[in-house]
This record gives sequence, structure tokens and C-alpha cells, in this order.
Amino acid sequence: MSPFQLTRTLPEDATSAALRTDVRRGLTRSPKELPPKWFYDARGSELFEEITRLPEYYPTRAEREILACRAGDIAAATGARTLVELGSGSSEKTGFLLDALPELHSYVPVDVSGSALTGAGEALLADRPGLHVHALIADFTRVLALPETPGPRLVAFLGGTVGNLLPGERADFLRSVRALLAPGDALLLGTDLVKDERVLVAAYDDAAGVTADFNRNVLAVVNRELEADFPLGNFDHVAVWNDREEWIEMRLRARERANVKIRGLDLVVPFEAGEEIRTEVSAKFRREGVRSELAAAGMRLTEWWTDAQGRFAVSLSAVG
Ligand code: AVJ
Repeated sequence: MSPFQLTRTLPEDATSAALRTDVRRGLTRSPKELPPKWFYDARGSELFEEITRLPEYYPTRAEREILACRAGDIAAATGARTLVELGSGSSEKTGFLLDALPELHSYVPVDVSGSALTGAGEALLADRPGLHVHALIADFTRVLALPETPGPRLVAFLGGTVGNLLPGERADFLRSVRALLAPGDALLLGTDLVKDERVLVAAYDDAAGVTADFNRNVLAVVNRELEADFPLGNFDHVAVWNDREEWIEMRLRARERANVKIRGLDLVVPFEAGEEIRTEVSAKFRREGVRSELAAAGMRLTEWWTDAQGRFAVSLSAVG
């Protein structure tokens, strides 16, 4: 058996069908919204990589600090033989875990992007020839069937991406993760933490304007994939802290009124001057909230590690 296997659980056209549904639904409702998963075409993924290097965007560095420091503790606590990584993308931070897990037999990266999986899988195998990589093209918010690999399993969901889910979606998602775990398995979860509003807003509205370009990129995706004519220059990037929900919201605000044609949907979308599309929610967490959400999904928080500045947390949970 080849050490690298790629399994597609989504039909080739699932992405375009889901995009059509999301765009039609999101732009014909009020207030308008688009789900953040559509940011990540090749250009959007590149812009996100650039965001992770910005001085204002601390989450990636803070999480990397935690993983570098705690990989040995994670390995000792879990004894994992299979590492499942949801939303693995370029698998960059996973190296710390792979290097620290001496018993590791299989790595199962899960991502909607087949190209990211193939690139990351090949890079990993070059460094770790004995590892079995079983990549899954799948939407991690859907219930997953995992390949038969030896336990214990460690399921990792890093980067703070769990914050992109709304509370109800998060509860469903955590329950579906719980369903993947057997006794002895664990969940490793990265969560960005509530902090000073100015620090949070700066992280999502950087001085160089990279996040603004990332945000507007979703319109370029819709223009290309659905033959729309969004004038990107008419939309301003907005990042606001919602204190009641404790999340950052990214929006795109129309400067002038406009009628946007989406030929692929046979739809015209009217915008008033100042009208906004919500393009992302990025929830920030507290320890007690994470503990209780995990408990509601049938998991027990066993470890909580933060970076030295207390900006970001990586937690470990068990079942039962
Ligand atoms: C990749 C989802 C963790 O919410 O911070 C970065 C995406 N959006 N800047 C986040 C993002 C704006 C990021 N996640």
C-alpha cells in the first residue's frame, strides 16, 4: 500500500453547488452575508498566509509558541498513533506534533482543498518516510468517516477556526467530533481568547491592508466562479468587535449604491450606499466557555495551555 492515499468524500462539483447555494441564500437575505469558507481560493489562501506574518495578527505565532512548548506534553498525555487534523491546509504547525509523537503510525489531514492536501502530504512524506498519510478531501463541518488506522487517535483542530462557526453550528460540530472519538482518544483544539478590543480589531484590520484584500477576495471568487460583476473598489473592509457575542465581525460595506449582476445565478443583487455584507465571524473564547461547550458535546477538558502573553489557548479534551 502506498504511504500516501487521497480519498475524496465530496463529489467534484460539490464545491460549486455549495457556493451557488450559499451565495444565493446569503445575498438575497437581509442583512446580507457570505460564509467565510469561500475566501480560500489559491489567491485567498496566499493572502491568509501573508496575514499570518503580519505584526498585528498574533494568533498564528501564539499558537505556534504553545505547540512548540507543549508538543512533548501532548504526546505524553495522548500516546497517539493516529493524528487527524481537521482543516489542515498547509499542515505547517503540525510538524511539531508529528516530530513529538514517537508512536505515530498515521496522519490523516482533512481539508476541502485537494491541492493543499497533496502538496502538504508530499512535503511531509519527504521528511518522514515511515509515516502513513491518508488525506481526506472533506468538509470538516460534515460528519466524517475516518479511515481504519490504529488508535489512540488525536483529532486536532487548530488555528482558532472553530471561531468561524456560529454557536449553533459549533455545538453541532463538536458533537460530530465527539462521535469520532473512542475512549482513550483526544481532541486538541486551538481557540483565540477574549482580550483588549484594540488588539483584536488591529488583528483584523491591519495597517498594510492585507486583511482588506483578503476580505474583498471573496467577491473576486464570486465574480470568477459565478460570472458576477462586483466592483471590488466599491467595497470597504470593516472589522468590528461585537461585545455581546464576543466575536470579531468582518464586513464589506458598499460605498455607493449598486446593482450587482450574478449571471451564473441569473440574479441581480441591489446594494444601498453603506449597506454591508457580513463575511466572517471570528469568535473569541474564555476557558469556562470552552469547557462548558465541550462538556455539552460529551467531552471533558483535561489540559489548557496558553502562550506566555495569554492571548491564545490550546486545549486537550477526553471523552467520558
Ligand atoms: C483562519 C479562521 C483562524 O478567524 O482569525 C484571518 C481567518 N480572517 N483574518 C481567523 C482570518 C481574517 C482566521 N482563521
